[in-house]
Amino acid sequence: MDTPQKLSPTTIFLHWIIALTMIALTTIGFYMALDHIYALYDWHKALGVIIFAFILVRVWWRIKNRWPVPVRQYPPLEHRLAHIMHWVLIISTVLMPISGMMMSGIGGHGIHIFGWSLVPENLDPTTGEAIAFNLTLSQLGEETHEILGYIFAVAIVLHAVGAIKHHIIDKDRTLRRMIGH
Ligand code: HEM
Ligand code: HEM
Repeated sequence: MDTPQKLSPTTIFLHWIIALTMIALTTIGFYMALDHIYALYDWHKALGVIIFAFILVRVWWRIKNRWPVPVRQYPPLEHRLAHIMHWVLIISTVLMPISGMMMSGIGGHGIHIFGWSLVPENLDPTTGEAIAFNLTLSQLGEETHEILGYIFAVAIVLHAVGAIKHHIIDKDRTLRRMIGH
């Protein structure tokens, strides 16, 4: 269980494995979308689907345990901002993989996890181009993935700056507690 003094190993493990993977996927995602580096697509998709399993466990863990209680009383505005950011982050962790799977899977591009085909491609036999199983849903996934990608990138920066402010300026235990100290 999480307490104001100590966070459980489950909270800490899930926070960091998801945080690091999501940061990596965001970086790879923007890079591959800008330069269309197709070698990265299968890695990005596979890692995104795998981390989704951890994300679902984390959501269940949060529902069961509620949000961690702050380490001390901070000004209400600061507390509110941090809380909104936690919601933006956790919702993004759910919607980024779902929208990605909609774009690729329903879009007919296929999803493969290291050789295992989760969703097959749907290719036009003459042109070899992907044909969407449902164009509206795949486009909705694509738009969501792109717009939320930007929102998520901004949210990570604000969240990390907040954590560093707690550590350096307020000198409280917020960051140390998330590292397990
Ligand atoms: C789980 C966390 C994920 C994160 C944080 C993430 C992040 C991103 C970002 C920031 C981009 C660049 C923005 C864009 O143009 O869309 C991107 C692109 C992309 N993502 Fe993800 N992604 C995730 C999961 C997935 C999954 C599960 C799939 C598919 C199964 C996927 C498929 C793609 C594809 C195909 C692109 C390239 C779109 C293009 O070429 O325009 N992503 N991702
Ligand atoms: C360098 C990057 C990061 C740092 C330094 C950091 C640090 C922290 C700290 C110190 C807390 C505890 C806040 C408190 O006690 O009120 C926290 C909570 C949280 N962080 Fe991060 N974080 C980072 C990246 C991320 C990323 C990328 C995500 C989303 C994928 C994320 C999602 C969350 C969420 C949802 C919480 C609420 C508690 C929980 O569900 O575990 N963090 N973070």
